[in-house]
Amino acid sequence: MRLSDCHNFHDFRRLAKQRLPGPIFNYIDGAADDEVTYRRNSESFEACDLVPSVLTGVKDIDLSVTVMGQKLALPIYCSPTALQRLFHHDGERAVAAAASKFGTMFGVSSLGTTSMAELRKQYDTPQCYQFYFHKDRGLNKAMMQTAKESGIDVMMLTVDSITGGNRERDLRTGFSIPFRLTLGGMAQFAMKPAWGINYVTHEKFSLPQLDAHIDMGGGALSIGRYFTEMLDPSMDWDDVAEMVRDWDGQFCLKGIMSVEDAKRAVEIGCTGIILSNHGGRQLDGSRAPFDQLKEIVDAVGDRIDVIMDSGIQRGTHVLKALSLGAKAVGGGRFYLYPLAAAGQPGVERALTLMKAELERGMRLMGARSVGELNPGNLRFR
Ligand code: LAC
Repeated sequence: MRLSDCHNFHDFRRLAKQRLPGPIFNYIDGAADDEVTYRRNSESFEACDLVPSVLTGVKDIDLSVTVMGQKLALPIYCSPTALQRLFHHDGERAVAAAASKFGTMFGVSSLGTTSMAELRKQYDTPQCYQFYFHKDRGLNKAMMQTAKESGIDVMMLTVDSITGGNRERDLRTGFSIPFRLTLGGMAQFAMKPAWGINYVTHEKFSLPQLDAHIDMGGGALSIGRYFTEMLDPSMDWDDVAEMVRDWDGQFCLKGIMSVEDAKRAVEIGCTGIILSNHGGRQLDGSRAPFDQLKEIVDAVGDRIDVIMDSGIQRGTHVLKALSLGAKAVGGGRFYLYPLAAAGQPGVERALTLMKAELERGMRLMGARSVGELNPGNLRFR
C-alpha cells in the first residue's frame, strides 16, 4: 500500500499500521477502557442527516473561518498532539509545514518533540500551544513565558487530563517514553526494522517544552504516569482564571463538555472552548462532543467561540459540526495516521482530501460560505 492508495481516514490508518511498530501504532489508535467513547465520537455524526439546498449558485466556495481571532483558510486545524517525532522523524515540523501551506492552525503540545519557538519562527500560520498544568508551578510559569516570548497565537489549556486515562493497549505493550517495552512490545518493534533504522539515524528524541524543567530520571514514563505524577489534580477555576489574566490574549479550554462549565469559561474571560473528550482517551463512557454541541452553542455561542474535536474523519462531519454552530473543528488522528504513513506529504494529502470533501460537500449542500451553514441544514433522526 502506498500514499497514493490513501483516499480516506481508514486508508491512512492502514498505511500507518503497516509502517509503525505495534506499540506506537496502538498508542495513537487506542483509547481508554473499552474504547466505547472513542467509537461513539465518530458514530455521533450519524445521528443526524444533512438536508441540502439546491440551485443556490455555488461556483465559488469560501471555506475560511475566523476563530479565536485567527483567520483560517479551512475550518479544520491540526490539534496539538504529543510525541510526533516518534510517528515520523519530521514530526511537528511536517505538520506545521503542511498546516501552513493550507493556511490553517496547528498546535504544539507540552509533550511535543519540537520546540514551539522553533516552529513559530519558521511559519506564519496561526499556532496554538497546548498547556498541561503541572504540579511544578515554576514550570507552568516558565512555559507561559516561553509561549509569550515565542509569539504563540492561542493558549490552549487541556482540562480533561487531570489524571491518566486507562489505556489498556499501552499497558499490554509497555509503551512509554523513552521506551521500556514488554517482551511482546519489543517483538513488535523487531518486526518493523525500517522504522527502527530511521529512528536511530535521526535527531535524538527529546521533549523540548519540558526537558529544561523535568528530570525524567533517565527512566521511562508512561503517558498515564506522566499525567498522574506530573500534572496537578488540584487545578481549579481560580488557577485557570489567574492563567487567563496572566496570558492576556486568546485563551481556550480544551475538554469542556457541560453547559455549566462553558458558562464558567465565559465568566473567567476565556475566548474559546473546545468540546472534546480527548479522542476517547481519557474518560470512557463520556459523551461525544457532537452530541453536546447544540446545547452549549445555544447557551454561550454568542459570547465565546465554541469549537469541537474528537471523532472527525470526514468533510461531512465537519459540515455537521459547523451547521450546529461550531466555529471550527480540530483533528488529531485525522493527521497523525497520515504523518506516520508518509510524513509531510501524508499530512498534505489528508488536508488536500479534506479540503476537496469540504468544497464538494458545501456545493452539494448549496452553501457558498461557512456562515451560510445553519441548524436548518440538519435533521436529527
Ligand atoms: C494523549 C495525551 C498525551 O492523549 O494527549 O496521549
